[in-house]
Amino acid sequence: MTKNFLSRGSEETREYARQFACTLQRGDAVALTGGLGAGKTEFTRGIADVFNVSADVTSPTFTLLNIYNGTWRGESVSLYHFDWYRLETRNELYNIGIDEYLYGDGISIIEWADRFLDALPKHSRRVNIDVVGETERLIIIEGGLPIARATF
Ligand SMILES: Nc1ncnc2c1ncn2[C@@H]1O[C@H](COP(=O)(O)OP(=O)(O)OP(=O)(O)O)[C@@H](O)[C@H]1O
Ligand SMILES: [Mg+2]
Repeated sequence: MTKNFLSRGSEETREYARQFACTLQRGDAVALTGGLGAGKTEFTRGIADVFNVSADVTSPTFTLLNIYNGTWRGESVSLYHFDWYRLETRNELYNIGIDEYLYGDGISIIEWADRFLDALPKHSRRVNIDVVGETERLIIIEGGLPIARATF
């Protein structure tokens, strides 16, 4: 099941992300796709809110990976925030031991996940964001949102 949501501003995108993040649990990976400035980092901020991350969430474009400390159900959890935009080869992922993160007990969030689709875990949740206007974004969430399940 895929669900589409029209966001009319950054705050709405973060709110959809918060609702989506309520369905996440340890070991999950979120594959974010969509062009430059689509709102992948905004969406990540909403996820980080749900896991009580207090650090600033910014695109790890030059660092490849930002690690945030958060909590989930009262226990600490790590958020692994990747950006694969500048990656040239998949080897760079293996050099940092990507599978330790993707298959660990934290939550992985990957911007530009479509750059290396075959490096993604099969269980990744897919979220695509399309720019449809200056402040409008079409958010396509595989599996939908809990609120959507209750509505339909
Ligand atoms: N509805 C919206 N949802 C999300 N962002 C929006 C929206 N409307 C406007 N924006 C603006 O679009 C930009 C989204 O930036 P963001 O860094 O989240 O994009 P990104 O997809 O992570 O880009 P990049 O690929 O460069 O990392 C921000 O400047 C934000 O204010
Ligand atoms: Mg970004």
